[in-house]
Amino acid sequence: MRKKIAAGNWKMNLDLTQAQTLVSELVQMLEDEYNGSAEVVLAPSYPFLYPIHHLIKSYSRFYLASQNMYQKESGAYTGECSPMMLKSAGVTHCIIGHSERRQYFGENHEQLLAKVSLCIKSGIIPIYCVGETLSERESERTFEVISDQLVHSVFPIEGEDFSKIILAYEPVWAIGTGKTASPAQAQAVHAYIRQLIRTKYGEEIAENTSILYGGSVNAANAADLFSQPDIDGGLVGGASLKSREFTEIVKALP
Ligand code: PGA
Repeated sequence: MRKKIAAGNWKMNLDLTQAQTLVSELVQMLEDEYNGSAEVVLAPSYPFLYPIHHLIKSYSRFYLASQNMYQKESGAYTGECSPMMLKSAGVTHCIIGHSERRQYFGENHEQLLAKVSLCIKSGIIPIYCVGETLSERESERTFEVISDQLVHSVFPIEGEDFSKIILAYEPVWAIGTGKTASPAQAQAVHAYIRQLIRTKYGEEIAENTSILYGGSVNAANAADLFSQPDIDGGLVGGASLKSREFTEIVKALP
């Protein structure tokens, strides 16, 4: 059975006190109100990882993600963070290939494959993001773009290692815009992704891969999105910065 996951990508928001308050509230609300099986993954920025690790480490449903990492184990790379460093600070997951990293930091297929591979080697679970821009969707290139992003950056990875990856479909036009993909639009792409995995790795791996939807998920639309057969949870940006809203999103998962 594949896992249900609600991941909060805080991006470059909050200060340390705000981050700690948010987590304390979230832990309390979910302890009080949620009995389901979903895993909750929090992705604060680098300086807050270790303090947040301390707040969540005794709660088994919570996991800690970094928003990025560098594709080298160590060395003279000023300003970068290796997965080993992250792991030693309590990180269990890492978001890789977010569209903002592709767009603003020029991350390409080759670099993303190196990141995903090193992440797995280091024992960190990659949350690998794919998604088309508005112009790609309008020119009916959605499936081609998604396929390219998978074929070049994760499908070179062997089956046993691939099975450790979580995928996230995040249409770029839906990120931070308030425009969510309809449940049917999202489901169509998720089913397509799962079919690509099935063709490449077989039925068992395809059935066990968690594929999250991201792009303006909120408390009002989460249940409809998560009820789709191939949507296994969400990668949530803006709405993950509010404890009540994110709690309701988690509660939309069984
Ligand atoms: P959003 O961001 O929920 O604010 O649209 C999602 C994401 O970028 O992961």
